[in-house]
Amino acid sequence: MKKVGIAIIGLGTIGTGLYKLIMQNGDLIRNKSGINITINKAVDINKAKKDELNIPNSVFTTSVDEALNSKEVDIVVELIGGTTTAKNVILKAIGKGKHIVTANKALLAQYKSEIVPLLVSKKLELGCEASVGGGIPIIKTLKEALVGNKIHKIIGILNGTSNFILTKMIKEGVSFKEALKTAQKLGFAETDPTLDISGGDAKHKITILSSLAFSTEVDINKVFVEGIEKIDKLDVSYAMELGFVLKLLAIAERVDDGIIVGVHPALVSEKNPLAAVNWEDNAIMVYSDFLGKSMYYGKGAGANPTSSAVVADIVDIALKIKSNYEYNPKVYSFFNNLKQLNFEESNYRYYFKFNVLDRPGILSKISGILGNHNISIASVIQKEVEEKNEYVPLIMLTHRALEKNVRNAFKEIVNLKEVKDKNAIIRVIDD
Ligand code: HSE
Repeated sequence: MKKVGIAIIGLGTIGTGLYKLIMQNGDLIRNKSGINITINKAVDINKAKKDELNIPNSVFTTSVDEALNSKEVDIVVELIGGTTTAKNVILKAIGKGKHIVTANKALLAQYKSEIVPLLVSKKLELGCEASVGGGIPIIKTLKEALVGNKIHKIIGILNGTSNFILTKMIKEGVSFKEALKTAQKLGFAETDPTLDISGGDAKHKITILSSLAFSTEVDINKVFVEGIEKIDKLDVSYAMELGFVLKLLAIAERVDDGIIVGVHPALVSEKNPLAAVNWEDNAIMVYSDFLGKSMYYGKGAGANPTSSAVVADIVDIALKIKSNYEYNPKVYSFFNNLKQLNFEESNYRYYFKFNVLDRPGILSKISGILGNHNISIASVIQKEVEEKNEYVPLIMLTHRALEKNVRNAFKEIVNLKEVKDKNAIIRVIDD
């Protein structure tokens, strides 16, 4: 039986889940993989964790250095989160010759280029399955199962909190604020939910996925992001009438001269399997040349799903380092040098809602502006409202158009004196 020693740094939600998983399913892991995972060190600043998890004295410590200095530790599992202490711990662990497993998407999305060269120079391994999609094995799928495929596009629902909020708005007709309040009450959203609802969390995740999918560096600073904070429940219900469901999507696409990566709310046809991914679930649709379309679905967060992914990384690394394997730095190097295009170069269909004065000639003014910007209208609906209301919502769906043109046209239209506030522009996925 091959034995691998690990140090768990951070016994928060995931660290606790991992400890429990190894205690509960250790035999199963040994039988399935031939790997005996020994937790040599479990580190947390909160001493109460020792009794809570019944951790032996020789294993529990509050000192990261004690864990990193332990000769028995082969793999350091960083589960602290954040980008400051966690980064120092990882760099120090690499310095001590330890392999790394982490769930830290923010750290990987922002500092991978600092961490990986050091790791490779020491011939060490890095596992990060849990950083994207929680328990869904999407990283391994991209790296191994789809190795024979050229990937064209990834569309992901990568943030459970936003998906929960949007599902609540869709199914119960409540406002964004009400849905967020429920998500917080049920523990799906943090007290400060900014990173989730602003699209920041999904941005970290799509940065990691797209660099793997396209084998190229992806600059997180060039990833477009728009959150769900401004979504109006009226748009959710108008979209439903048109046969669409609103989702926060993370999209990375190969285009002729490079890649475009972004996160934004989008209308998805109710026939698209992504439309059925509800509540806090995550899913990733991958478009590739030989396999075609494939979708990976499951729990994107939580102690159990995430520790399931962490343990898979530990076993994966153990199977390599405890055999006579040849180190392959190519796993960590990107051979493509694709240009990352500005999101304004992307091409979508669009949903517009304009609140306009109900007067003759307004529609032709708006369609004139769209025409001038090379945007072709696919359908128009004017919602009838009570007679005393001067303003009416005008809903438009366009054919595919260039984002740059759409932004310019939208700006011009909302500046018309006949157009009131609460207008909306939402991208439409027509796959
Ligand atoms: N906050 C994330 C989400 C989970 O809501 O999906 C951790 O990645």
